[in-house]
Amino acid sequence: MQDATESAARARDPELRDWRFEVDFERIAWAIFDREGESANALGRRPLEELGKIVERVEAGARDGSIRGLVIISGKEKGFIVGADIREFADFTTEEQVIEAIKPVNEMLDRIENLSVPVVAAIDGVCVGGGLELVLACHYRIATRDDATRVGFPEVKLGIFPGFNGTARSIRQTGPLAAMQAMLKGSMIRATAARAQGFIDQLVDSKGALRWAARKAVMQQRKSKPKRGFAGLLAKWPARGFLAGKMREETKKKVREDHYPAPFKLIELFETHGGSYAELKREETAAFAPLMVSDTSRNLRRVYFLSEALKAQAPKGLDWKPLRVHVIGAGTMGADIAGWCVASGMEVTLQDLSAEQIEKGLAAQEKLFKKKFRKKPQREAARARLIPDPEGKGVGRADVVIEAIVEKLEVKQALFKGLETKLKPDAVMASNTSSLKIEDIAEALNDPGRLIGIHFFNPVAQMPLVEVVRGQQSRQQEIDKGAAFVTAIGKFPLVVKSVPGFLVNRVLAPYMMGAMRRVDEGEEKEKIDEAARTFGMPMGPIELADTVGLDVCAHVGQILGLGNEVSGTAKLVQSGKLGKKTGEGYYTWKDGKPVKSEEARYGNGELEKLGRELVEPLIKEAQRAVDEGVVESADLVDAGVIFGTGFAPFRGGPLYFKAHERPGTVSLAAE
Ligand code: NAI
Repeated sequence: MQDATESAARARDPELRDWRFEVDFERIAWAIFDREGESANALGRRPLEELGKIVERVEAGARDGSIRGLVIISGKEKGFIVGADIREFADFTTEEQVIEAIKPVNEMLDRIENLSVPVVAAIDGVCVGGGLELVLACHYRIATRDDATRVGFPEVKLGIFPGFNGTARSIRQTGPLAAMQAMLKGSMIRATAARAQGFIDQLVDSKGALRWAARKAVMQQRKSKPKRGFAGLLAKWPARGFLAGKMREETKKKVREDHYPAPFKLIELFETHGGSYAELKREETAAFAPLMVSDTSRNLRRVYFLSEALKAQAPKGLDWKPLRVHVIGAGTMGADIAGWCVASGMEVTLQDLSAEQIEKGLAAQEKLFKKKFRKKPQREAARARLIPDPEGKGVGRADVVIEAIVEKLEVKQALFKGLETKLKPDAVMASNTSSLKIEDIAEALNDPGRLIGIHFFNPVAQMPLVEVVRGQQSRQQEIDKGAAFVTAIGKFPLVVKSVPGFLVNRVLAPYMMGAMRRVDEGEEKEKIDEAARTFGMPMGPIELADTVGLDVCAHVGQILGLGNEVSGTAKLVQSGKLGKKTGEGYYTWKDGKPVKSEEARYGNGELEKLGRELVEPLIKEAQRAVDEGVVESADLVDAGVIFGTGFAPFRGGPLYFKAHERPGTVSLAAE
């Protein structure tokens, strides 16, 4: 069977470029998705058209008896279908165009579903978005238990929801609870959970077993048994209305409808039409089209491409792979950097002057390991990969050495001077400094070109961005390796010049200082924070200052030459009120949350206007960073600010927002 499909790969089919099609000696048709010239399978226009041709052939074969079943499988080494091809979304400018493009796809999926012979999807690796919608139109779904095998509907992250009738098919297949959760959260579901929820019918242990299992499923004409679907109580009123209310409540806790309408529109669609499969299928398109052409979706797609641009800073084909890391300093940052690298599969030695500090640092990683590794053996393996190393024995074996000790120039200089000769010749030598210049630290070295900055943000596990800092002498090769390392641990690298504050702190500081100055001038802190959130920031600047620590803010302000001009902050710092960590700062903190006065209610227009004013210094500083070449391009500045500060992703980045600002969205002219 394997040979038959592989020989099909060699024979060219004049109609197919992204798919291979072969009917084997048992009359099983194999549709093998292997997009030409791409490393992953995305469902673009051409692959969908070609799939339509395959369906025609299978329809004919089913009629004349030459085909007894169809298996849809990937021809890629790893991965099934990564979703619809986002690159093609930009072609749509009107709702009509969207509706026009969706119609033939949905008709084709109906034809797959209506085939008289069994249709089996055989999944190894990622199967998300449009890919999941396609397999839900099949009669039976088999997946490997592999850790990389995941199903999911990530559409909400792009400001839309499933548009190839995935809303109706997932509800029919798994019932409204699991389906709506999957669509609203956009998370990736592991194979075992997907099987439990009903997205998958059968699991196999390995990729090798997949084809055989698919063959058997065709032979035995297996058909999935949908869980509850539309016949279940939950799809009926009043349960549906009640569920929709709960979902709305939950969603509101996470996002605002004016910023992210897609999940709310999905709930509305379910509430209004979720009682009938046919009706939901029809109405899905009508609700989907306006989202697809919305500014929000366009901007979120931009954010996706920006994340790809960040990853692309790590050059492909680099003949260097980081496997071992040595971290010096087991404090707040060092311990978490070590833990994160271990969670990404690396072996890490952790050094500190204090053995007690190392112990504390190791213990603090338990939470991360529990979250990352569900199974005990995996957790134990992770623990074994995190090695206490008070004497620094790991230095000579490491591929990457990261220093995260006290922020003192002479101490760091002395440390690196001692390290320089002990490192492997091709190992990366990096400092996590947040305020010192890389070239100053490198001054003491024989080979200053070797040192770079790898600047993590706190908390390490949650912040997706890491700045890779280029000192005046840093060699390009070291920067490339630094970016490759950051990518290897699943973070986004941003290559920045060694200037005070690099990019992220540089743009954050004037924004936060500006907000604190307003508090000095008598503006309510609650109003400021609410206004920033109205704009789309994940947290208001005053709450953020308290979270970061007011002493740290004052220090950063000094480094950036912004002085100690915020008297309110200075007073708080003097009286030991440093924010969240001391239980009091601008706010009083209880159970890890700031206590805010409840009474205050502000008009939306007022908040929008203030929110816009608050981010203005950030936008100006971002522009200056472009002008001064801190980061290579304006797009990368936008990317860095979004992933480094959480700047409202649906606005597409500070510079993009500024350039595309339209009256009526958020403008200073608002009432
Ligand atoms: P920390 O004070 O929590 O930890 C520093 C650790 O280094 C201590 O455990 C100390 O015992 C150890 N240490 C000091 N000298 C040492 C030496 N010569 N050899 C081995 N260990 C030594 O400091 P934190 O906050 O983790 O900061 C470390 C570095 O990371 C600094 O350069 C800081 O600027 C930078 N950074 C800090 C961030 C934060 O939010 N705390 C964020 C990003 C960067």
